[in-house]
Amino acid sequence: MSRILLSPPHMSDAAREFLLDAFDSNWVAPMGPHVDALEIEFAALLRREHAVALSSGTAALHLALVMLGIEAGDEVYTSTLTFAATANSVRYTAATPVFVDSEPSSWNMDPDLLAEALAMASRENRLPKAVLVVDLYGQCADYGRILPICARYDVPVVEDAAESLGAYYKGQPAGAFGDMAACSFNGNKIITAGGGGMLATSRRSHAERARFLATQARDPAPHYEHSTLGFNYRMSNLIAAIGRGQVQVLRDRVAARRANNAFYRSALSNVPGIDFMPEIKDGDSTFWLTVITVEPEAFGASRDDIYQHLAENDIESRPAWKPMHLQPVYAGCQYIGRGVADDIFRRGLCLPSGSNLTSRDLEAVVEQIVHTPRAVQGAA
Ligand SMILES: Cc1ncc(COP(=O)(O)O)c(C=O)c1O
Repeated sequence: MSRILLSPPHMSDAAREFLLDAFDSNWVAPMGPHVDALEIEFAALLRREHAVALSSGTAALHLALVMLGIEAGDEVYTSTLTFAATANSVRYTAATPVFVDSEPSSWNMDPDLLAEALAMASRENRLPKAVLVVDLYGQCADYGRILPICARYDVPVVEDAAESLGAYYKGQPAGAFGDMAACSFNGNKIITAGGGGMLATSRRSHAERARFLATQARDPAPHYEHSTLGFNYRMSNLIAAIGRGQVQVLRDRVAARRANNAFYRSALSNVPGIDFMPEIKDGDSTFWLTVITVEPEAFGASRDDIYQHLAENDIESRPAWKPMHLQPVYAGCQYIGRGVADDIFRRGLCLPSGSNLTSRDLEAVVEQIVHTPRAVQGAA
């Protein structure tokens, strides 16, 4: 049996056809008909007025912060439990990230902690310039609470929807929340174009500014004139072609990942010491990744023991994200929290979750988890 991967690409016939069309048309450039079409189709998918196709999700996050005027000396509050790209985008603007802990019920930014922190910052007259909220592992944050809290202090919200494309919260799609949202087509995402990202916004001025900045901020002149610092962040027409073919199968991919999650939940339901990332009441997660937590005393082995045992049996898994406030590169940054993300990091393990896993693959993962050698004293 071949190695079982965490979240491999799952292409579609439409993606192949669009890619060949782009190639044959010789639109092999960071512009072209597939870029234009993908932007229109994506905006409709996210129920936004505008979507700007970019080279990565990280580029989308960075541009969003640049357009909010964030610069050195500013603070941006963001989720501590995330991939480094989120926090890095803050650093690219030379602003300082302040890390907010997760709530146990969604693993996303804790609205109570955010409310307390903003109230105190307001009293001290040092409100952040933005709040950058992450939707973790396929699940939207609690925007029903987060957005009104931020609106009270007039602090703009950017949604990092890189991991949550296809999810819903109170009937609204991931990517529809906040002033701007970033999506990703990285190779491990629910749909992928091998790379690429999208900035979604409801404001025309933001979309126009993003396109301008992403193409090296070229002023209107026959020669190359630049009065603003720009970036090379536009998406290739080849990538956009693949992306269009992938958007067509997003619903199927969500259904497959949710079915994986349901299988794991039912197959491991009677195993003591294994629990699952919760799904919030108002949300429909895609379960981009299925994440378990391991209680070593009850299970008889630790998260690391399971990880090791799976690896020895050709199964890829991955510890939950190491929170940003524990990362050496962010040492010294402020952290507001109660240790929830620390605990998820210590005990969380992402299981193979690809939409192209077979039922034999899923059964093999469960079988190896259950047969992890028990090493912990006092085990059940
Ligand atoms: C939460 C989160 N934010 C941002 C990104 C960055 O996206 P990209 O890889 O497209 O730059 C990723 C993943 O790659 C992510 O998981």
